[in-house]
This record gives sequence, C-alpha cells and structure tokens, in this order.
Amino acid sequence: MSGPIGQSDTTPRRLVVLISGRGSNLGALIEACEQGRIPARVVGVISNRPDAGGLALAEQHGIPRRVLNHRDYPSREAFDADLATAIEDYAPDLVILAGFMRILTPGFVDRFTGRMLNIHPSLLPKYRGLDTHARALADGETEHGASVHFVTPELDGGPVIMQARVPVAPDDTPDTLATRVQRAEHRLYPEVVRRVCSGEIQWCGRILQGDGRPLEAPLQLDEDTHERSGPDDRSPPPRTAG
Ligand code: GRF
Repeated sequence: MSGPIGQSDTTPRRLVVLISGRGSNLGALIEACEQGRIPARVVGVISNRPDAGGLALAEQHGIPRRVLNHRDYPSREAFDADLATAIEDYAPDLVILAGFMRILTPGFVDRFTGRMLNIHPSLLPKYRGLDTHARALADGETEHGASVHFVTPELDGGPVIMQARVPVAPDDTPDTLATRVQRAEHRLYPEVVRRVCSGEIQWCGRILQGDGRPLEAPLQLDEDTHERSGPDDRSPPPRTAG
C-alpha cells in the first residue's frame, strides 16, 4: 500500500482494524460495511490484548483476527515491526486504530502515512492523551466530543478530518459523558472512513484535502443528526456496536 486512496478506483477497500478493548467502534464499522454505507470490508482485526472483547465480535462476523501480545516483545520497535508485517499480510487500503492503546514508533507510523486513522475522545487539539472526559468535566466544558485524524508520530497530533460535538450536562460524570461521546463516535468513524475510502478526503503528509481543496478546519459531523440531551443519551451504546 502506498499513497492516498484515489477517487477513480471503485474497488471495495480493504480495512484492517487495530483494537485493544471492547471494540464498539469496530462494531460500528463492520455494520456500516455490511450495510453498504462504506464501500469497503474489514479484512482483518489485530489486537495487542488477547482478552479484547472486539475479537469475539470479529469472530461473529467471520473476520480473520490476530493477537500480537505486546508483552511477548522485548521492545516497542520489535513489536511494531511484527505489527507492520501482520498488517501488510492483509494487504489493506486503510489501517484503522479503534481504541488501540499503544504508543507507536515513528518508523511504524511513517510506513502508513495517509493510510492510518485514529479516533480520539475529545475535540482535538484539546485533551490529547488519557482521561479526556474527566479532564473536560474538571475544566467546566459545556461541549465535548470526538475527533478522527490521520496518524502522525505525534500522539493524537495528526491532522483532524472531522469532529462530532456533544453537549456536557450539568450532572454528567466521566461515565455518562463517555457514553454520549461513544454514541457520537459510532456515527463519526464510519462517516470519515467512507469519505477516505471514496478518495474524497486525502492526506499524503502535507496538505489535508477534502474534494481536492485544502481543508482549513476540521469538518463537523452533521449537527442535525447529532445526539441530543435526553434519556437516550444516558443509555448504553447499541449492542450491534459493541
Ligand atoms: C473510544 O472511545 C476511542 O475514542 C478511544 O478508545 C475508545 C475505544 O472504544 N480511542 P471501543 O473499543 O471502540 O469500544
């Protein structure tokens, strides 16, 4: 795999999804592919944790999966080298980090420039790193959300493609806020993957482009279809998504 995905080739894209946990974003992506909302299919799931819940989800959908346990490796570089080989074995068009809790080496990231996406639970550049919901609440934010970006060697620092915004309720806890953000993530990630798979969004390490024009600011997931405050916001994400 090399260079961004072009708009002329209409072959279904091959997605490899990297996970460490529950895999609810993986579930949302599988569902979107199966329903034809994304012109792609998930051809492989790789987890660095043998107990990741998302592995069972992949199995249910007949998707090949692999575990590369980072604890079996003497160094980050050694793990990333095997990870890159495992990814390339699936010949993907796009590598999707969906709750993959690893810091990646620059050499690994460079190999997949313009072909690797991550979802982060904050409105980047705010709250890079961990505990984003608690930090947003501690700061008294009235709005929070999630961002999808191309991956660069800088942690949560790559160009942001699109964001989903959610309101913060006065009585929110980190858990209630996380639930609301995740529900938005399950709409946001498939939408971004769709646009990258169709060649609408491109980045090859220099200028982020949307439909051939530079994207000056992150796109925003359609406000009209956003989660609104109300009882539904407090319920767990749908089963199909994790
Ligand atoms: C998501 O909240 C994502 O933003 C973060 O990790 C979480 C993964 O959740 N990077 P899941 O495994 O997809 O349910």
